[in-house]
Amino acid sequence: MLKIAVLVSGGGTNLQAIIDAIEKKELTNTQIALVISNKKDAYALTRAAEHGIKSCCISPKDYADRADYDQAMIDAIRGSGAELVVLAGFLVVLSARFVDAFSHRIINIHPSLIPSFCGDGFYGLRVHEAALKRGVKITGATVHFVDSGTDTGPIIMQKAVEVQDGDTPEILQRRVMEQAEWKLLPAVIQAIADGRVPIG
Ligand code: GRF
Repeated sequence: MLKIAVLVSGGGTNLQAIIDAIEKKELTNTQIALVISNKKDAYALTRAAEHGIKSCCISPKDYADRADYDQAMIDAIRGSGAELVVLAGFLVVLSARFVDAFSHRIINIHPSLIPSFCGDGFYGLRVHEAALKRGVKITGATVHFVDSGTDTGPIIMQKAVEVQDGDTPEILQRRVMEQAEWKLLPAVIQAIADGRVPIG
């Protein structure tokens, strides 16, 4: 059984996709051991509670310095027994200390086909605004391992999505979520649970 910790900051639709896949038994041999949000009002925490999943808020604001925050995160994740850390819309930039603590055991979902529209400043709607501005006809989503850079770690899986005439950033964001993100993230977790994608 692969135990995972899911880190969130907002709405948590990707968390929901993982929960749904587990409940429908489309995602097997996987258990969400803990959900951690950096924001106490994140709707993702409500989603966890509604499904009886252990969750907590750990905010950098509540710690004297970054090292203390990192240690609290590391302790919570280790204490949960999670072997894999899943970033699902987690907007806190990770420190080298945190990444080293879970080397090759952290995955992130990014709403573009890396290496396009990624790196510093490319998050949320900004990614889709940039894709539309550049006029690409295909975009998509990427799940990758997290290293010390921003969106620079090894790519695990990608899924393409068509851009359509008349798309707004909001419409494109929704299509990328529906057609790519919500399928890709459970698929990658299944591949890891099955041992098809080795982790640290
Ligand atoms: C998603 O687009 C994800 O790719 C990005 O942040 C967004 C999070 O959405 N990293 P949600 O909180 O899962 O609904």
